[in-house]
Amino acid sequence: MKVLLTGASGYIGSAVTEHLVAAGHQVVALVRDAEAQSGRAWHAQVVGDTADPASLAGAVTPDIEAVIHLAPPSGDADVDTAVIEALATPLRGTGRPFVYTSGVWVLGATGAAQEVGEETPTNPIGLVGYRPQIEQRVLAEAAEGVRAAVVRPAIAYGRGGGIPAILVDRARQQGVPEYYGDEDVRWPTVHVDDLAELFVIAVERAEAGTVWHGVGDSAVAVRDIARAAGRAAGVLAVPHPVPVEQVTDVFGALFADALALDQSVSGAAARATLGWQPTRPGVVAELTSGSYRPVEVFGAPEGPETDAEVAAIRRLVAEVEHAQQNELVDRFLGVFRRQDPVWTTGHGQRLSGFEEIATFTQKVLPGATAESTAVYDVERVLFLRPDVAAVNVRQQPVLPDGTRITDRPEGRPFYILVKEDGTWRVGAAQNTLAAG
Ligand SMILES: NC(=O)c1ccc[n+]([C@@H]2O[C@H](COP(=O)([O-])OP(=O)(O)OC[C@H]3O[C@@H](n4cnc5c(N)ncnc54)[C@H](OP(=O)(O)O)[C@@H]3O)[C@@H](O)[C@H]2O)c1
Repeated sequence: MKVLLTGASGYIGSAVTEHLVAAGHQVVALVRDAEAQSGRAWHAQVVGDTADPASLAGAVTPDIEAVIHLAPPSGDADVDTAVIEALATPLRGTGRPFVYTSGVWVLGATGAAQEVGEETPTNPIGLVGYRPQIEQRVLAEAAEGVRAAVVRPAIAYGRGGGIPAILVDRARQQGVPEYYGDEDVRWPTVHVDDLAELFVIAVERAEAGTVWHGVGDSAVAVRDIARAAGRAAGVLAVPHPVPVEQVTDVFGALFADALALDQSVSGAAARATLGWQPTRPGVVAELTSGSYRPVEVFGAPEGPETDAEVAAIRRLVAEVEHAQQNELVDRFLGVFRRQDPVWTTGHGQRLSGFEEIATFTQKVLPGATAESTAVYDVERVLFLRPDVAAVNVRQQPVLPDGTRITDRPEGRPFYILVKEDGTWRVGAAQNTLAAG
């Protein structure tokens, strides 16, 4: 399909562009600035501004087979209504899709209710008070022969961006991870690539007059997100709850309230009815060892294949961390290659062969984390061959609550990893304590 996409240069729009193109569609981007944007996978671009509905008059040409409207509304009801009319009217009587982007904040605080679905009446917070009206205006187009649908994304993360990136920046600036409002606030979340896939599915097959929640995880404790954001910022400390009033000058009162909103929202309908399958790691894993912590990579070409190998290597190192933190002997041993592995500890003890490593681990790991443990972050990957990688890891000692132990040295583990039968394992490992 040839799809007119508003907001195509934005955070979600960039991902939607890529996934539309990957699914064989052509993207015509509606942009405010006529200057051609390099590096975009757009088929064409047209100039228009959603603050000026008249500028959209010629945007939906007869060859446009679908519209996805991602650009944010102005908040002025007349302008936003006129924008929907300008974009949807040319589709009337064609049965062509018009997908409008709303957001889960139109549901307001869901309270004790678990996993609120699309049938729940809207109860918008101040920031998006105008949005339910726009949703209704869009859905009314179903009666005019437009395959009109609404997608309500959760808080999007991934690609190092979105609202979680704000928490990472704040943790870096403040020296402590923050979250806003009550300790038990939960956010529905969605990986931006999973969300982009939902937009592709919605444009391909959502029925007229339908609403879909783009929710990967229905309710993630914001405290856990803040802790992971601190980790991404290199700040290992207990997250600090900040009253909303104290950040209204930073974020504005309405956005600060939105960050403190407690929600539990279901994305089950899109899975069950549209066959949407969100597969990416959750927000905490993404912050801890994904796109918010870039890794230096050498010896392999840039591209999705290398990205996938680096992600797999990071998962292996996350497994080392998880097994150590939870004293899981078998899982720890599972990271090693069976054939002649060697591990030299931070104290210089060399363990040669799987049996020696197993005996040592069984002796030292149980009970080892009662007072302290460690976090492991991949910093550099050198592919010596496509299936052999030299990996530099940063190991920081922490208390069981995740706080950095400042008077103990870091470790500098160095792993030689080997990929066999599709799985990366440790062939050789050496740890060195970082002096000073
Ligand atoms: N991010 C989330 O977690 C999230 C969650 C729920 C809902 N949403 C909704 O999803 C939509 C996209 O969000 P996003 O995070 O991708 O936003 P974003 O990164 O800020 O991108 C906004 C996009 O809209 C374009 N735009 C802004 N004002 C415009 C105007 N007056 N006319 C034409 N284009 C305009 C921008 O183009 P320029 O390049 O010209 O600036 C940009 O491409 C928004 O409606 C947002 O409310 C987002």
